[in-house]
Amino acid sequence: MKRLLLLNGPNLNLLGNREPQVYGSATLESIVQDVTNFAKTFDYVVEDYQSNHEGELIDLIQQAEGKYRGIIFNPGAYTHTSIALRDAISSISVPVIEVHLSNVHRRESFRHTSMLAPVCKGQIVGLGSIGYRLAATVFMEENA
Ligand code: DQA
Repeated sequence: MKRLLLLNGPNLNLLGNREPQVYGSATLESIVQDVTNFAKTFDYVVEDYQSNHEGELIDLIQQAEGKYRGIIFNPGAYTHTSIALRDAISSISVPVIEVHLSNVHRRESFRHTSMLAPVCKGQIVGLGSIGYRLAATVFMEENA
């Protein structure tokens, strides 16, 4: 079974209500459903987790080794702060694509830096929820 891990960090459980002018009106549940349905047509299973806790996200990344073809990760604000998440990503061989709904480069300067991007396969920003689907496409194409 080919699997992808869809991981969302802090405050992304509030999507739909949270600053819709920035993040859009889609709920996390509907985004997860969309990626899951899309991947299913290519015989992929998507496992999804959301956590507001850095340590829990680290545990999930550590446990991903050997289980997934790729990790689609929106780390939320931890993107800009977390050396621990960066070290977790560096510790596994599963490739990670960093996804942001908003165009972080058009926002406050503290959002312009990603601690994680240098150890990720790539980064998708500012394309809304389609970004998650694009990341899935990259992993599925690579493993086709
Ligand atoms: C975000 C961008 C981050 O700067 C912010 O802290 C988030 C969401 C995005 O998807 O655009 O929580 O990751």
